[in-house]
Amino acid sequence: MITKYTVKRVKSGIPGFDDLIEGGFPSGTTVLVTGPTGSGKTTFGVQFVYKGAELYGEPGVIVTLEERAQDLRREMLAFGWDLEKYEKEGKLAIIDGVSAVVGLPSEEQYVLEGNLNAEDFLRYIYRVVKAIDAKRLVIDSIPSIAFRLRKENEIREVLLQLNTILLEMGVTSILTTEAPEPGRGRISRYGIEEYIARGVILLDFIEKEVELKRYLLIRKMRETKHSMKKYPFEINEEGVVVYPSGEVY
Ligand SMILES: Nc1ncnc2c1ncn2[C@@H]1O[C@H](COP(=O)(O)OP(=O)(O)O)[C@@H](O)[C@H]1O
Ligand SMILES: [Mg+2]
Repeated sequence: MITKYTVKRVKSGIPGFDDLIEGGFPSGTTVLVTGPTGSGKTTFGVQFVYKGAELYGEPGVIVTLEERAQDLRREMLAFGWDLEKYEKEGKLAIIDGVSAVVGLPSEEQYVLEGNLNAEDFLRYIYRVVKAIDAKRLVIDSIPSIAFRLRKENEIREVLLQLNTILLEMGVTSILTTEAPEPGRGRISRYGIEEYIARGVILLDFIEKEVELKRYLLIRKMRETKHSMKKYPFEINEEGVVVYPSGEVY
């Protein structure tokens, strides 16, 4: 007898999105969120981890490499997301990867030193994931890891090792990256990100009359039936909201 293998799904916490991917991300998968600046990558990634803690009781880690933890906390309050509350409950941990680099004092519990080597970086993330028994992780962003490394060309090696570690820990992860020319085939900076990612989501803009409209495209999602349509989404007071039955012209 053949038993149908069912994939365990992790709900994204993004309204409308799970309808596009059979109910959620395959558990333990690594998903790349790519797009130009302002497209919503940070919001998407933080929302995934925050909603995990708030709605599904799953602890999560946010590695912030583009803005200080305190700035991120403040910005996310605009969506009504009180990160600090869940940090105090041990359901969220923010690794501040900015303060040390720009030479600002930090009172954060989890701080990444500047000038890291690849092992330090990976070991630190591993430690924090284990410390709170995290099930979700976001690293924002991949290109900014490269700038933290003593040798920038170690980035490929770091990404390959990161992939192994993430799979071993069993966390469901979002990695953000910038797409240099999303419409023209290039969807990541180093080219290796999409190779390690089991899913790729593109966030982008399309020009419509006199304004830009946001859309989302699922380029790849292993173990999942999904369309290659462009779906409209918004960033509003709830964060990222996707419209599965909307049209993008
Ligand atoms: N509170 C908010 N309400 C509505 N839109 C917002 C809010 N905060 C940010 N945005 C929108 O989200 C954009 C930034 O999204 P972000 O996730 O930081 O993008 P990225 O990380 O891709 O650069 C802003 O340019 C703005 O358009
Ligand atoms: Mg960002």
